[in-house]
Amino acid sequence: MPADGIPFNAPATRQRIESLLARLQLQPGNRVVDIGCGRGEMLHILAESCAINGVGIDPDESEINIARRLQPSRGSLTWHNAKVQDVTLEPGFDAAICIGAAHAFGHLPESLPRAFEQLRAMIRDRGRILIGLGYWMQPPSQPYLDATGLEAGELLTHEANIATAESAGLKCIHTEASSPAEWNEFESAFLRTAQQRAAKSPNDAIAIASLKHWQSWNAAFRQWGHHTMGFAFYLLEK
Ligand SMILES: C[S@@+](CC[C@H](N)C(=O)[O-])C[C@H]1O[C@@H](n2cnc3c(N)ncnc32)[C@H](O)[C@@H]1O
Repeated sequence: MPADGIPFNAPATRQRIESLLARLQLQPGNRVVDIGCGRGEMLHILAESCAINGVGIDPDESEINIARRLQPSRGSLTWHNAKVQDVTLEPGFDAAICIGAAHAFGHLPESLPRAFEQLRAMIRDRGRILIGLGYWMQPPSQPYLDATGLEAGELLTHEANIATAESAGLKCIHTEASSPAEWNEFESAFLRTAQQRAAKSPNDAIAIASLKHWQSWNAAFRQWGHHTMGFAFYLLEK
């Protein structure tokens, strides 16, 4: 369940996302697909700024229902409440977006080459991909893995993310990483949301279990995560 009060389910400010989306260099009428679009805000920004025709795909019904309420004044937006595997897409998109959703293509990191290959197949020559991926800033310590249930093998390093994209025939033209302040805001939002839900429904076992989970996750983030797990955006060209 995404956190309340943050525009994206990723550690990034609106300002960062807007500047990354501008780097896609889209024109009115361009076609853009967002895999794991969540609440659809990225396609909405592109519709308003560039009058694109966007296609958003996400199997989470509550997220897609929020996306469906977006009414851009330019361009058009189409939503699929489905897994990417279950949607037939006409290739030749001018751009593809996949932020924090590469697991849509399978278990990570084994599926990362497939994610890049499939995103590449969706876009035209010289089309661009904006993908957001986690990475290890340093090898995760065992206490951090024990506290979070994360596995050392589930993320690569920043350099390995880039090398994997390049092995799939994509040129990496820009990267930037989320800042400590963006991470703090992102992690705090999940804890705050869980606290608010538990306060509203103190007898709800799910809300209480969720609060415990986010308290423990947040403690691990403060102790180890903030200097161990990074999140970066990669702008790639076919
Ligand atoms: C961390 S969220 C990111 C959402 C959005 N990209 C953002 O940054 O706000 C990951 C999203 O991927 C979606 N997802 C998971 N499996 C998927 C699949 N097989 N096909 C498409 N989307 C999927 C989830 O439902 C979730 O909304």
